[in-house]
Amino acid sequence: MALSCTFNRYLLLMAQEHLEFRLPEIKSLLSLFGGQFASSQETYGKSPFWILSIPSEDIARNLMKRTVCAKSIFELWGHGQSPEELYSSLKNYPVEKMVPFLHSDSTYKIKIHTFNKTLTQEEKIKRIDALEFLPFEGKVNLKKPQHVFSVLEDYGLDPNCIPENPHNIYFGRWIADGQRELIESYSVKKRHFIGNTSMDAGLSFIMANHGKVKENDIVFDPFVGTGGLLIACAHFGAYVYGTDIDYNTVHGLGKATRKNQKWRGPDENIRANLRQYGLEKHYLDVLVSDASKPSWRKGTYFDAIITDPPYGIRESTRRTGSQKEIPKGIEKWEKCPESHIPVSLSYRLSDMFLDLLNFAAETLVLGGRLVYWLPVYTPEYTEEMVPWHPCLELISNCEQKLSSHTSRRLITMEKVKKFENRDQYSHLLSDHFLPYQGHNSFREKYFSGVTKRIAKEEKSTQE
Ligand SMILES: C[S@@+](CC[C@H](N)C(=O)[O-])C[C@H]1O[C@@H](n2cnc3c(N)ncnc32)[C@H](O)[C@@H]1O
Repeated sequence: MALSCTFNRYLLLMAQEHLEFRLPEIKSLLSLFGGQFASSQETYGKSPFWILSIPSEDIARNLMKRTVCAKSIFELWGHGQSPEELYSSLKNYPVEKMVPFLHSDSTYKIKIHTFNKTLTQEEKIKRIDALEFLPFEGKVNLKKPQHVFSVLEDYGLDPNCIPENPHNIYFGRWIADGQRELIESYSVKKRHFIGNTSMDAGLSFIMANHGKVKENDIVFDPFVGTGGLLIACAHFGAYVYGTDIDYNTVHGLGKATRKNQKWRGPDENIRANLRQYGLEKHYLDVLVSDASKPSWRKGTYFDAIITDPPYGIRESTRRTGSQKEIPKGIEKWEKCPESHIPVSLSYRLSDMFLDLLNFAAETLVLGGRLVYWLPVYTPEYTEEMVPWHPCLELISNCEQKLSSHTSRRLITMEKVKKFENRDQYSHLLSDHFLPYQGHNSFREKYFSGVTKRIAKEEKSTQE
């Protein structure tokens, strides 16, 4: 992709966690704020240092107000594979772009950041002294500088093979930090109302970012549980709504999840969770409802559907219905008399994802996103298994390992076509329909043989 000369170069310092989720997060946020990614970016892979070309510092700042995958962003003034290369690159950086930050009335500080190596104080000072050729005219202020500059040295990814000299050295002006602190401040450990499957705070924010959730959006979670995903979306300014088949979860009743507490206390519910974070005004409602039988009138209501359906590991995959399996089809709701008392049937994973995609295709606005987790048995996984829909384009598919043989994949899709009635059956013609059928036995596979032991260990460490 040819980048116009109005684009400036920025250096993103990425967190070394959830590696696969980082690129889709940054891409989604850039598209939200009107930025653009240099295509060569795809090659940065596991490195924490990414060079971005974006048209304005405002876009860089907006990006950092949202990202949980990036730690900091710098305006890149120079880059090289040796100190000499860095210095010559800095000498070529236009002086007029430096001067506003180096003039005599300003204060500044230079920091040294290394990845995969620790430097002594003496080595750090040497690096700072070597930058004397830059036209710094302001005063050093270590406590409250107006401008912070950083030298960032990259010693590669292998902790068992740390090179003498860095592979890459960067110099830049610090612009802003990302939202890593949200992972701590929204931690499930300190949350008022939680359940066995409450979504981790960091992943909830990543999901909201993949979904391009923005201020005043309406976001829906059809498998809402304790509302972990709604909290992240509300934090980004969306109005949130959810449903769950479990009456106790929706009403905050029943057994408590925390060890030292037997029953859930009063006001343990999703609304109170939002209140805990000052987000109550973003609460629309939560209802008891079965995702296999959506009760919505036809229409496009949601800007995003962000959800974590059950996999049957710690919660069952159930749906309401009569003992006689009703064949899938348009008349199935009409076959249930009003007096019918629903019984619980098992809800096959493949049907659940089919229903979810159809529901999203029908109720999302054009350009709206569906973000959900797809559990897979890794030895059998192929990309063809990812459910498909003619109205939804696959944007990203990132793996998170659950055990040696199982993982879940974070799937992001965007609505690209208006829903027509015939679209709900297109899966039958798709190559993607049959392959996922095998995953209906995901639960047995998860708890079989080796995975049984690992799953137990994982469960006990999370409790
Ligand atoms: C993985 S949990 C969601 C956890 C949630 N993200 C949180 O942070 O608490 C899945 C939820 O789906 C609900 N569920 C299962 N089958 C359902 C159905 N047919 N319709 C709606 N909800 C269902 C379960 O009761 C459970 O609360």
